[in-house]
Amino acid sequence: MRLVLFGPPGSGKGTQAPFLTERYGIAQVSPGETLREDAREQTELGKVAQTYMEKGELVPDDVIITLIRERVSRPDAAAGFVLDGCPRTLPQAEALDRMLVAQDAPLDRVLYLKVSQEVLEKRLGGRWTCPHCGRVYSEVVPEKTRGICDDDGVELIQRDDDQPEAVKRRIQVYIDKTMPVLEYYRRKGLVLELNGDQSVEEIRDEIMRALDGGD
Ligand code: AP5
Repeated sequence: MRLVLFGPPGSGKGTQAPFLTERYGIAQVSPGETLREDAREQTELGKVAQTYMEKGELVPDDVIITLIRERVSRPDAAAGFVLDGCPRTLPQAEALDRMLVAQDAPLDRVLYLKVSQEVLEKRLGGRWTCPHCGRVYSEVVPEKTRGICDDDGVELIQRDDDQPEAVKRRIQVYIDKTMPVLEYYRRKGLVLELNGDQSVEEIRDEIMRALDGGD
């Protein structure tokens, strides 16, 4: 199964993706997470990406397209994948289509998590991340000891791009550059719209009903 998880920053893409990988035995392809790992390790790519990410800007298309191409050609993606947070621009969507046409492996569904701006701002303001392993905590996924990562005992921080100014910019960039991708997929009849304001479990069940029931 080849899926795109689509939605604004904070809509729950990263929360729902692991469920899909587990249930359908597919790989998670998450450029944002890959770039954050690179930034933590201060690789050349990570240092460049960080300058865009901390301001809430998109990383250039050529970087992302190379990253997606490399990731979807790995053996663990042979049975399928869920793209979490990409494509985010029309050139990325077109490049992905070319890759998949060449493999005769079209996308099955684009799962659109529609969430109100008020809920997004609340979720992003309440998200805490481990600077060491990247694990995410929040009201709905709380840590055992307040402010400390369950896995490695490190103090949790807020992502630079979860600061209010960067959040505003990310939402604007989403409206300007990423919403046209939704229209692109709507025209292809691939979009399944979900109410992303619901609980994690309600969204998960709705996705499962649609994918398993063939809605
Ligand atoms: P990326 O990491 O992809 O971030 P994003 O799309 O902005 O999404 P987030 O990770 O902020 O949110 P999410 O939708 O995954 O929500 P989450 O599940 O965490 O990208 C970061 C940056 O990398 C970009 O700004 C850009 O610079 C760069 N980048 C990445 N991809 C790129 C691309 N293709 N092109 C160019 N640049 C790219 O949930 C959010 C919070 O809400 C969590 O705390 C969670 O616990 C909570 N939550 C989730 N679901 C629910 C729910 N149903 N109810 C209550 N709380 C919930």
